[in-house]
Amino acid sequence: MLRIGVLVSGGGTNLQAIIDAIESGVIPDSKVELVLSNKEDAMALDRATSAGISTEIIKRSEYESSAEFDEALAQTLSTYSIDLVLLAGFMAILGAGFFTKFENRVMNIHPALIPSFSGAGYYGLKVHQAVLEAGCKITGASVHFVTPEVDAGPLIIQKAVAVKQGDTPELLQRRVMEEVEWLIYPEAIRLFALGLLEVHGRQVIIKQ
Ligand code: GAR
Repeated sequence: MLRIGVLVSGGGTNLQAIIDAIESGVIPDSKVELVLSNKEDAMALDRATSAGISTEIIKRSEYESSAEFDEALAQTLSTYSIDLVLLAGFMAILGAGFFTKFENRVMNIHPALIPSFSGAGYYGLKVHQAVLEAGCKITGASVHFVTPEVDAGPLIIQKAVAVKQGDTPELLQRRVMEEVEWLIYPEAIRLFALGLLEVHGRQVIIKQ
């Protein structure tokens, strides 16, 4: 049984897609044991509670340094014996200390085709706004293993979606979520749960 911890800050639609994919058997032999938020009003916490999942709130403001915040997160995840950590709209940057405990066991979903529109300052609606301002005809989302360098860890799955004339950041965000994010995140977790992902430097090999 793969014990999953999900880190959230907002709406939790990706969390919901993961919960649903476990319930329907798309992701085998796995359970979300903990949903951990850095925001006490995150709607993702209500989704977790509705699904009977334990929740914890750890706020950055309660710690003097980022390193202490990272340590508190890692400690809590260890208390729940978490095997795989999923960032799902988690709007805080994890420091190097966090990864000593969870190397190649932290995934993130980013709402663009990395390395485009990624890195510090690119999150949530800002990403879609930048894609529209650049006049891009396609965008998409990426699931990757997380390393201390923001949005730069080994890519697991990417999928593209069309930008349409008349798109607003909100419309584009919704299309990227519905047509890409809610599919590729569960698929990446399924591959991990089946032991089919191998990391070689920057390359992720999917074993057949
Ligand atoms: C998602 O679009 C996710 O890709 C993005 O935030 C949204 C969270 O939505 N993440 C980032 O921008 C990370 N850099 P959700 O809370 O409904 O899953």
